[in-house]
Formats: sequence, C-alpha cells, structure tokens
Amino acid sequence: MKLSKKKLSITKTVESTIVIAAFQTKQNKAVLGSATKYYNPLLQSIEKDTAFSGAKNTSYFFRRTQKPHVLFLGLGKKEQASVETYRKAGALAYKCLDKEKQKSVAIAVSSFSNEKEKNLPALMESYLEGLLLASYSFDNYKNKKKKQVLQNIVCYVEKETLLKEKNLHSAMAKYEAITIARDLSNEPANKLTPALLAKRVQGYAKKYNIRCRTLQASELKKENMGGVLGVGQGSVNPPCLIVLEYKPPKPTKNRKKIAFVGKAVTFDAGGISLKPSMKMDEMKHDMSGGANVIAATLLAAKLGCPNEIRTYIPAAENTPSGSAILPSAVLHMRAKKTVEVLNTDAEGRLILADALDYAQDASPDALIDVATLTGAVVVCLGHVASAIMGNNRELIKKFQQAMEKTGELHWELPIYDEFCEAMKGKVGDLQNISSGQAGAGASTAAAFLKAFIRPKTKWMHIDCAGTAWNQSHLPYCTYGASGHGVRTLAEFALNY
Ligand code: BES
Ligand code: ZN
Ligand code: ZN
Repeated sequence: MKLSKKKLSITKTVESTIVIAAFQTKQNKAVLGSATKYYNPLLQSIEKDTAFSGAKNTSYFFRRTQKPHVLFLGLGKKEQASVETYRKAGALAYKCLDKEKQKSVAIAVSSFSNEKEKNLPALMESYLEGLLLASYSFDNYKNKKKKQVLQNIVCYVEKETLLKEKNLHSAMAKYEAITIARDLSNEPANKLTPALLAKRVQGYAKKYNIRCRTLQASELKKENMGGVLGVGQGSVNPPCLIVLEYKPPKPTKNRKKIAFVGKAVTFDAGGISLKPSMKMDEMKHDMSGGANVIAATLLAAKLGCPNEIRTYIPAAENTPSGSAILPSAVLHMRAKKTVEVLNTDAEGRLILADALDYAQDASPDALIDVATLTGAVVVCLGHVASAIMGNNRELIKKFQQAMEKTGELHWELPIYDEFCEAMKGKVGDLQNISSGQAGAGASTAAAFLKAFIRPKTKWMHIDCAGTAWNQSHLPYCTYGASGHGVRTLAEFALNY
C-alpha cells in the first residue's frame, strides 16, 4: 500500500474516491467536517439525509456515475472524538473501501479537524494506523491469496501543518512492525520452531540495521539456564535465546538502557502436564510476548529511539515426550536458585526467569517482560486489556503515560507479599505453581518472576494472554494475532 500526501485542495482530486469526515451535532444530525460541502453542492444533501447521522463507527458510501465517489465517515460528537475514535474510523474506512473495490483514495484531511488544529496531525496518524492495520491478513498458506484492492492512499492538505511527512512515516512504521508481530504469532507451530524464529528475527534485524545474536542450546548450558533448557528438553526442536541490540545512531549522554524480555514458547502443549485438546492449536500464539518485543524494538529503532534497547527472547517448544521434564523435576536456574516443577504447563515463567537474570547483567535502567503467561489473566480482564505488575511506581507511571497516547489498554494488578509467599518451595527454593491463592494466578506468576529480579532493578511484567489474539472487538484487529502492546512498548522506549 502506498501512502502519500499532496499539498492541494481536495477539489483537485484525481483518485476514484474521496473520504470526507462527518461529525454529529447535538441534534444527532450529520455535519460535514470543515468546508468540504461547499466544494461540491451535491455533498450538502448528506446533511439532510436522515439515514446517516455522523455517529461514530458509521459510514455512508455515495457511489456516483461521475467520479469521484464519496465515502462519508462518521466520527461522532466533535468534543468526544478521541485518538481511538480516529483509529477505529480508519479501520472502518478500509473495510468500506475494500468492499466497494476502490483502488485509490483521496482523504480530505481538513474535514477531519475537531477544531483543535494542533491535534490534527496526531489524530490523522491514528486514523491512518487504523486504516493500514485493518488491511492485514495472514494468508501465507493459501494457494488462492486475497488480492488487496486498495493500493493507494493520498492525503490532501491545504496547509503543510495539518499532516506532516513524519506522521505518514510513523503510521507506516507502526503498520510494518505490527505486521511482523502478527505474522510471527500467526505462524503455525510446524513453521516456527525456536530455530526458525531465530532465523526470521535475524532477517528483520538486518533489514532494520540492529544487531542480533542467538545463544544455541550448548551456550545456554554454559550460562546455566536450567529453566530454558528444562522446558525445551522434551522437544526435538532445541531451545535458544535470541538477543537484539539497538544503539541510537547518535548516542546522547543521558540515554537510558532499556531491556525487553519476551516469552517465546513456539508451541505450548503443556508438556507432561498436557493441555486438553480443545483449542490447543491456539498455543501456537504462545510466543506473542516475544513477537511483540521484537516488533517494538524494530519500531522504536525505525522511529529513531534515543535510548538503547536490548531485547531478549527465550524460545522453546513445550511438548511431552520421554525426555521431557516430569512434574517434581528440580531445575537449577541461572540465578542459582532451584525450582521444583509441579506443573510443566507453567513453563513460561521458567524460561523468563533465566532471560530476566541474563538481561540484568547489563544493568538496564528499566526492564519489561511480556508474556502470554496465564489463563488467569483472561479471567480478570478478558480480551480487553493486558495486566501490568511491577516493583517500581515511576516505571509503571511512565508506561501508563505511553499507554494513554496509544490507547492500548493495560490494567495494573498487585503482587502482594502473600503471593510471593505462595511461590516458596518445599523441595526447591521456589515452586512453579502456587500453594493456595489459586484464583490470583496472574499475580502469583508475577510473584514467581519477582524472585528473579535483583534489588536495584526497576521491573515491570506484562501478561498479554488475553490480548495477544482474539481482539476482533477492535475493528483494526483482524482474525488471529493482534500485536496489542507493540505501539505502547515502542512509545515507552522513545520517551523513557
Ligand atoms: N501459555 C499458557 C497461558 C495461556 C493460557 C495463554 C490461555 C493464553 C491463553 C501458560 O503457559 C499456562 O499454561 N499457564 C497455566 C499456569 C498454571 C498451570 C499455573 C495456566 O494459566 O493455566
Ligand atoms: Zn503452559
Ligand atoms: Zn505457555
């Protein structure tokens, strides 16, 4: 898809369709944004049409014998239209244009103004994000691929300040990064083993000019990563640890060191504590935490992040076999702690613990891990928000500020001392499932991770088990993986 802008009035359009924004008046009537109605008297009739009220999440495609056709897009009440409203409107626009088989579209940018013109570039960026993200589909394995109809988006602006080149670049960068996150997560288990994931990431790193290295199983042994090795030992596909290193091109003195860690269980069958077969296929997505931190790192790099980012992705396949760890196994972790494995399906925390320990050797100023860690978080927050937990208020606040900008929902849960207590082991130092506190599974999992965080480390954990896929309530999320969190992680890295 081509995305560009022209410093021209929308009256000069050569594209087959124009998109005009409409708002909703207090009397629930549609009113066209800006002065677009004067450009073509025909358009004025829309304001008299009772079928279209300009409400948000509504649209009206006006097919004309003489081009251009017009797509009216409702943004709802002017004072209520948020960044997220614009993102959803973008997604709706894509769906209409696709259905109407439009190849080329002109966007009347000034019609989108909510009168706070200073905001318009950010709102339009969000609109374009929604439009691009809604065009995603995963059809790598279909012989007959869906041909993308829409090829060309041209934004018409009368003034340069309404939409900057930077906004177009940024919308496209987000789309490309989230496409990578979704693609990785959507890959089936037989097409994305730990080794194949490492290979894919190597390719992306090269394209984005980031350093990438992989610690193979033999090196994991040297590093005493009993957690990653233990989880991976039942599979014929060996585990590994992928590391990305981004350094800003012009490093400043006050740059920060950020570390991301992402769970990449390329398939979670549960191991000997085998999962039920119902929906087990969805466990191909159990590497979404890894996919999201990879994508966020690439995105931050593309947007010229002033901070350093090191990203660690422990990758393993959790399958039962004669060589798999058994419930009761004691693992010797990199941090020199021992863990009694009471349930081999609580594997994510085992691989994360080693990677978190490894990440802390570089003394990061902020450490964030992302994982599809527990079914319990889905019970808490459904598919609407990820859970965040951590040991530092300032860090959580900074993350929440990033989230306010991106609209990706995250909700904080506690790590009470009682939860840490419940993870203490009877045979080992720790056990990988709690004794008691069963309902608080998302928090006890975080309490387990906390045992591997050194006293001075500012750390935050994100449980994205509910949001990594199944986000079809958002119009810009299509079937399968969502990439939820990628934009916020990158935003955080850019501003920390
Ligand atoms: N990958 C799963 C968590 C999960 C469940 C993600 C559903 C997405 C949707 C994780 O490894 C797991 O199996 N966790 C167990 C932990 C339990 C054994 C303490 C769970 O949540 O059931
Ligand atoms: Zn599991
Ligand atoms: Zn898992």
